[in-house]
Amino acid sequence: MNMKPNVQPLQNAGEQRLQLDQSALDAAKRSLEDGAVTPSYGPWREDIVKLLNDALATELVCILRYRRHYYTAKGLASSAIAEEFMVHAQEETEHSEKIAERIVQLGGEPDFSPDSLTRRSHADYDASSELNAMIRANLIAERVAIEAYTQMISLIGDKDVTTRRVLESILSQEQEHADELSDWLSA
Ligand SMILES: [Fe+2]
Ligand SMILES: [Fe+2]
Repeated sequence: MNMKPNVQPLQNAGEQRLQLDQSALDAAKRSLEDGAVTPSYGPWREDIVKLLNDALATELVCILRYRRHYYTAKGLASSAIAEEFMVHAQEETEHSEKIAERIVQLGGEPDFSPDSLTRRSHADYDASSELNAMIRANLIAERVAIEAYTQMISLIGDKDVTTRRVLESILSQEQEHADELSDWLSA
């Protein structure tokens, strides 16, 4: 692992050529215990798994917050916003599943430990009982998630295209969430 192959363009008679690194292709036939992670992956697997685990914690806290808000808003007979909270809870669940799946593909362990959840999460839990306070807390959490995913995407860049794509698809949904919440807030 962590053997960086030589995939730079080769100089040949003043002309640049694009050529694969055959030794890395051969190395990919070995280390089968690394699964989907091949030699060109680079040395950042642990860092990316850590970033993903913090994002997983964030999603799990968001699921709990939105579920709490769904049942509380339902009790206040605010069914439209309650339904919105539930839709968000379900979409955060899908995000958590995509992230956990990617962690396993990278040979890491998805951390679902409830003990450290709020410490590792970027966004906060919230137990407001008033509707506007709930919308506000969710908007803050979505904005934190947007900021965290934006930073992760720029850190990862071309280091792991698959993880970046997963994060990009999640980011666009967090932006929709924030947009919807800000409409409710001003409504
Ligand atoms: Fe999410
Ligand atoms: Fe969200």
